[in-house]
Amino acid sequence: MALLPSVKETFARHHLRAMTADAPGFLLETMQRVGPDFWLGVGNTTMTVLSSPAALRHVLVQRAGAWGRGSALSDTRLLFGNGIIASDPPLWLRQRRTMQPAFHHAHATRWLEAILAATDRCLDALPGNEPFSVRQAMLRLTRESIVDVLFSDTLGADAELVGEAFAVIEQVMGERAVALAKLPLSTPTAQRDRLHAAIGVIDERLFGLMASRRAEAEPPVDLLTMLLRATDPETGQGMTDQQLRDELMSTFLAGHETTTNVLTWAMALLGQHPAEAKLAATEVDRVLGTTAPTMESLSQLPRISAVIRETMRLYPPVWMIAREALEDAEVGSVRMPRGSVVLLPMFLTHRSPALWNEPAMFKPERFLKETSTDAAAWDFRYLPFGAGPHVCIGNRLALLECVVVLARWLQRGTVELEAPHSVRHAVGISLMVADGLPAKFRLSEPR
Ligand code: HEM
Repeated sequence: MALLPSVKETFARHHLRAMTADAPGFLLETMQRVGPDFWLGVGNTTMTVLSSPAALRHVLVQRAGAWGRGSALSDTRLLFGNGIIASDPPLWLRQRRTMQPAFHHAHATRWLEAILAATDRCLDALPGNEPFSVRQAMLRLTRESIVDVLFSDTLGADAELVGEAFAVIEQVMGERAVALAKLPLSTPTAQRDRLHAAIGVIDERLFGLMASRRAEAEPPVDLLTMLLRATDPETGQGMTDQQLRDELMSTFLAGHETTTNVLTWAMALLGQHPAEAKLAATEVDRVLGTTAPTMESLSQLPRISAVIRETMRLYPPVWMIAREALEDAEVGSVRMPRGSVVLLPMFLTHRSPALWNEPAMFKPERFLKETSTDAAAWDFRYLPFGAGPHVCIGNRLALLECVVVLARWLQRGTVELEAPHSVRHAVGISLMVADGLPAKFRLSEPR
């Protein structure tokens, strides 16, 4: 049987501390020393880390049926329950089929309207000369967009409350993502109680949404209606309220946390690279002028689109996927018994010097020729949306949203970062900019 390079702890709990301080950075540095696939001793456990294109293709696509979420997502289960993000077949397959039509590109014009309206509201509310958190602004904007797109609703008076609850969830998940030792979330602790209370606030809003939609005589065609109408092909029964809640929570969170991080990182990278920012702004000026983006004009913004794709190469919000072997499995010629967990950090693949020229550099032009975000088009060197049966269901919506928001912000003004050279990453629910990216927004001169 083949072996992977094995990186053992040389000092007591050294790796554990390094993973806690900066897991993406430590794994990247390890990959640069030993290669893309390795065993890593961390505290009392050995992690299997796979980031080579061949291993990713094998686990996510070729042998996808042998690798499930299993227990690999134990913490997030409290949030997502058995929702599509955390489930395995047969439940996952049924839910994926039910939801797929809501993400069809045919809805793109309606998505554009919702996103544009939320973006303009956000830009209108930015403080004139005062610094604000780009991340918080993007969270509000993307949250409003996703609630409109998927549930044809607004958070209205609850926006503040939902925002505060989300901040607690993010903080607890962030703490747990890097905790040296942690109790399972089933153990009663003050941390768990805070998390439960925050989830409860969002749950209340989601259950409210369900109730009011059920009372509507002519409901809109959106994800919420599709979920409410879905029936089990064997039993003919509809989804339980709990399952519905799990799906709404999954799509609500997955649908705005990720796009927030891409957009915040895009602002950070453009702030650090004025020449790239100028090229992007010039394209927006030339193509859009002062008119709002349309489906037609959006397709003429290759540089904006390349900035988004390059941002997701350097900072993929889902920086790592985890899978558990549902049966005895083999990756390459390495055998892994049922129950083995593998970590698949695409963050490493996207920055591998064997796969990319100057991998640490921000160079949007890499994505001017090959614009696809499909893993196969890049031979599994680039997969911000994952690959195989679980590939992101919202990828088209996400790309549209990121391009619209970035173009509109550049059209309406300039983001000036308070500290462009001290931008750091942090691991929360996904890979984010630490400290929220303080900046000022200078409105463009009227043209
Ligand atoms: C730029 C933004 C986004 C990125 C980078 C992203 C990334 C990903 C990735 C890597 C996966 C695969 C996870 C796995 O294999 O376990 C995934 C799955 C998923 N994403 Fe996204 N996502 C984004 C936006 C969205 C949006 C806007 C939605 C809309 C609701 C969404 C909903 C989902 C769902 C429901 C899944 C689970 C799919 C399944 O297991 O069948 N995502 N996403």
